[in-house]
Amino acid sequence: MTVSSQTPFQYQSGFGNEFATEARAGALPVGRNSPQRAPFGLYAELLSGTAFTAPRAHNRRTWMYRMRPSAMHSKAVEVRAPQWQTGPFHEVPTPANRLRWNPWAGPAGGADFIDGIFTIGGNGDAHAQTGVAAHVYHANRSMTDRYLMNSDGEMLLVPQQGALLLHTELGRLLVAPGEFAVVPRGMRWRIELPDGLARGYVCENYGAAFRLPELGPIGSNGLANARDFQTPVASCEAQTQRACTVVNKYLGHFWESKQDHSPLDVVAWHGNLVPYKYDMAHFMAIGTVSFDHPDPSINTVLTSGTDTPGVANCDFVIFPPRWLVAEETFRPPWFHRNIMSELMGLVRGVYDAKAEGFVPGGVSLHNSMLAHGPDAATFEKASSAALAPHRLENTLAFMFESRHIFRPTRQALEAAHLQSDYDGVWSGFASAPV
Ligand SMILES: [Fe+2]
Repeated sequence: MTVSSQTPFQYQSGFGNEFATEARAGALPVGRNSPQRAPFGLYAELLSGTAFTAPRAHNRRTWMYRMRPSAMHSKAVEVRAPQWQTGPFHEVPTPANRLRWNPWAGPAGGADFIDGIFTIGGNGDAHAQTGVAAHVYHANRSMTDRYLMNSDGEMLLVPQQGALLLHTELGRLLVAPGEFAVVPRGMRWRIELPDGLARGYVCENYGAAFRLPELGPIGSNGLANARDFQTPVASCEAQTQRACTVVNKYLGHFWESKQDHSPLDVVAWHGNLVPYKYDMAHFMAIGTVSFDHPDPSINTVLTSGTDTPGVANCDFVIFPPRWLVAEETFRPPWFHRNIMSELMGLVRGVYDAKAEGFVPGGVSLHNSMLAHGPDAATFEKASSAALAPHRLENTLAFMFESRHIFRPTRQALEAAHLQSDYDGVWSGFASAPV
């Protein structure tokens, strides 16, 4: 991937800040949000991501100063995105099985990001603004005059192959494998593919917006530090008139409207409802320096909360390179049956609980109360390994962990690359000689 080193993208630093940026000096009003006449005849427009009266710590909104109001578009007509599905997910019974998929094949023809999304499953309900959907995407065509606006939720993108160049109303983000990006609900954006082909994962979050987890006794630093999140500077698509379409995903249907100009004609903006990216190499991983394997919540990067404190609509959890130093301890994750449901993907390398079969681009799903843990080969090896300090190199796995059970789609359960023999990885354990 060469674009990131050659293209001078500018970013602002921080998470949840009150950012302010202008592509043309003087475009941002001073001292008020909606002057009688905005600078240069721009139109002031608010995008809110939380109820007006949400507590200040959670409140998210951004003021945009744009060449035309975003309301200036045609009546929308319904179009199809054939493999992108939306909760509630009750198409087929949810199997009481551990599930694992090999990587998806590339698109047979041309597919942009919208057409290249394949829904594995999800939970909750977009209408109720709860739950998430988990997708993989596989695209080989840039979006040039076609834009996406997802009214159903924010989009967390985890590239696995190929960079994504996100053009959003608030500016541009170049996101490479090893990084992830989040685009707020309702924002307009398009994706270019600087490497020609792009493959990765998406968490479409219908619920409360992702935020940094509380740190509790860890203190004021650690895990994902706020300063390492990057938000674009204003970058206006101000070209002369051209035909554009905006696809608005709305309660699981796709509604396309037309306009004669780019929807990204924002010259200046300020606020805290923003797209952002994060390099997962900056994650400060924390683990034991004495014994036992901590709960995986220690690796939470972002969390989408619910009305129940500590119980997440979705946690985004990563397993980056790190040292294992625990003494007198079985170091990989233990066997477990959890109330929370876990959907995992792998960006690169090998995951330490699975010696084989879980490969980059693949997916595993261990739903609530389904027994899982290390496979037999991993158990054997880790039970007899010398407990010298050991560094896990070249690995990056992640998990979407939800209080709601992930309900697979029919298309995911009927996919040819669903591994039919996954249960076998837990066969062959010898009975303890008691
Ligand atoms: Fe697990």
